[in-house]
Amino acid sequence: MSLTTNSQQENVTKLFTGSSHTEMYAKYRPTYPDELFEQIVALNCSKDQKKLNILDVGCGSGQASFSLAKYAKLLVGVDPSENQIKQAKQKESQSNIQGCKFDFIVGTDVNLLECVNQLESFHQSTTCENQFDLIVVAQSLHWFNFETFFNNVSKMLAPNGVFAAWTYTLNSFEGEHGETATNTLNNFYNEEMWKPGYWAKERKYVDDEYRSIEQYMPYPSNHKRLVLDYRKSMPLAAYISYISTWSSIESFGKKNGEEKKKQLLEKLKTDLMNDLKLESDSDEVQVLWKIHTITTTRK
Ligand SMILES: C[S@@+](CC[C@H](N)C(=O)[O-])C[C@H]1O[C@@H](n2cnc3c(N)ncnc32)[C@H](O)[C@@H]1O
Repeated sequence: MSLTTNSQQENVTKLFTGSSHTEMYAKYRPTYPDELFEQIVALNCSKDQKKLNILDVGCGSGQASFSLAKYAKLLVGVDPSENQIKQAKQKESQSNIQGCKFDFIVGTDVNLLECVNQLESFHQSTTCENQFDLIVVAQSLHWFNFETFFNNVSKMLAPNGVFAAWTYTLNSFEGEHGETATNTLNNFYNEEMWKPGYWAKERKYVDDEYRSIEQYMPYPSNHKRLVLDYRKSMPLAAYISYISTWSSIESFGKKNGEEKKKQLLEKLKTDLMNDLKLESDSDEVQVLWKIHTITTTRK
């Protein structure tokens, strides 16, 4: 089980905190396909699908939050990184989403209840317990203390409320020569990131598609799994920028310095260019992510 102590949590938060890292994150992390949100929202049939109270924990700069806004009357995003929250608020101020109140706040899986209770939205009801129709965690659950977090989830879910957490595993490449490029990427992931210890141990939960976390989720008879293919075509340079947002790359940079990090990413880019027979890094690559979602419903 991921039992994160305070100092471990500080180290995790640091991986997502640097302002240049969070800017890269906001720019290059993939958002998610509409189909994912449609399927999750459909699990909560008892409510008008556009008037949900939604909580996004480990929201980053709002990669899932903004896509969920069309189903929400209240959307609360929580993340321990002040810079991520700053980016999310900035996006909110630039967006023109009507009919949804956003609250992006600094907090964690552990102090979730206390943080959310501070919000003005809950002053009238005095507590956020039993208030959320949907609680989501996008690519963040592996960092959490599962027992404490799911205890909070049980308290905060409304009757018939849905919990959904998803993770996307290492992508593959499609198209001509995609298999060769995928082998190169797998090799990079295992030999350059895992073996020297640049991935935190929590990454193993992503590799196992959150299967070993499922046992901590409440309402066991209501557990479901969804698997979705998410395809995106993007210039190789943008793909490499996405790789640069991995927490393992952030750790590599902290240990070896920015110059070595740049060289590592340049080498991966050159290898992929050769594999895919590209002429420049502005040529498009076909990326496929598998999104694995675990869900449960309070009945
Ligand atoms: C890989 S990012 C995912 C961000 C976003 N949800 C997305 O889909 O791209 C992981 C996020 O989890 C946050 N995080 C790390 N530890 C956390 C914790 N204990 N509680 C809540 N969020 C946490 C990090 O600050 C970071 O923003």
